[in-house]
Amino acid sequence: MERHPLLAFLNNSPSCYHAAAQVAAALEGAGYVRLREERPWTLACGGRYYLLREGSVIAFRVPRGAWRGFLLAAGHSDSPTFRVRQEVPSAGNCLRLGVEPYGGGIWRSWLDRPLTVAGRAVVRQGDSLVTRLVYVDRDLLVIPSVAIHMDREVNKGTALKPQTDLLPLFALGKEPGAFSRLIAQTLAVGEENILSTDLFLTPRAPATLVGAEEEFVAAPRLDDLQCVFACLTGFLAAEEGESLPVLAVFNHEEVGSATRQGADSTLLSDTLERIDAALGRGEEAHRAALAESFLVSADNAHAVHPAHPEYADAAEAPVLGGGVVLKYSANQRYTTDAVSAAVFGEVCRLAGVPVQRYGNRPDLPGGSTLGNISISHLSVPSVDVGLPQLAMHSAYELACLRDTDALSRAMAVYFSRSLRRTEAGITL
Ligand code: CO
Repeated sequence: MERHPLLAFLNNSPSCYHAAAQVAAALEGAGYVRLREERPWTLACGGRYYLLREGSVIAFRVPRGAWRGFLLAAGHSDSPTFRVRQEVPSAGNCLRLGVEPYGGGIWRSWLDRPLTVAGRAVVRQGDSLVTRLVYVDRDLLVIPSVAIHMDREVNKGTALKPQTDLLPLFALGKEPGAFSRLIAQTLAVGEENILSTDLFLTPRAPATLVGAEEEFVAAPRLDDLQCVFACLTGFLAAEEGESLPVLAVFNHEEVGSATRQGADSTLLSDTLERIDAALGRGEEAHRAALAESFLVSADNAHAVHPAHPEYADAAEAPVLGGGVVLKYSANQRYTTDAVSAAVFGEVCRLAGVPVQRYGNRPDLPGGSTLGNISISHLSVPSVDVGLPQLAMHSAYELACLRDTDALSRAMAVYFSRSLRRTEAGITL
């Protein structure tokens, strides 16, 4: 039994599809009903709903009384990994798995540690093509390093080529075909009935607490499942307010979001339109609701590194344990501005949660995230926030446990409020 529910959430999410299924399971447990995209929606006041689209999830609940705008939060379900391809017969009687990098990972962190595969498969069942989750729940693979005796320069940094250096070792003395058989056994179906797969490597090391006071959480996929967990728990804990709360978890953030289920799609804007249409609210009411809506884009942030404080801007360097991070970028890679920072700052003040600021060192480009991509489809005010972490995009990342609870409390307050625009300004 894990010591914090975040650890169980991380351990039960070995792929983006499993993360989405975890979110869906938590929603089902709280009485949310799955909507099918292919059918007309009938929504009731007080109803709780969610939909799933290939590793992305959107959940919302309809207030019982009158409501104004949508209060949205977004995180992402995917993390840098490797997509599994065909088996590759290799030197030494070895069979390796061909892999292709997914996203921008610190690939050397994947060497010399137990790995396995997780993802999904499409299986023929009668005359249906059924998508099933796949997780080979055992230590299955290792990507072995070259010994230092053959590469004396290794500690000075050796480039790793995905085509040659990063293929995991799978079997000894076996012909290609063994991997497909293993997947068929895992799913308890005939090999001929597995039509296709989306499988990814996943580290076997479980999420754990480390540090003198167990203050740190060390785990794969903290970016962004720590924020997803905090937004989900805050969403479920919130009381009903005068806004319609929406939780969005997007797949494909690590590869640019420009996919059918990514943040750079019409998934979220279509969903909000369908909600208003199903509730009999017309186009004009929908536009007015959007004008009193707000988006919190929640994606992990860089804490100042204890060995390398020079990579951070001295005045805007968040620390582990310092609470929720507001992210700023002059060129709007992060969407935080004076108005949205003030709104979310008030939310955190009401929740009793500390806030810190992050801005990239002005001469380092930094990363991108969900906020500015989402609002290119859905024109609402937006703030970019995150939780401070180290080793972002490593196979094993590090963050501070109590920051998770800080964001969760802030999101519970956020989803309980409503945003109201008046002649004088904005009230929460
Ligand atoms: Co992220």
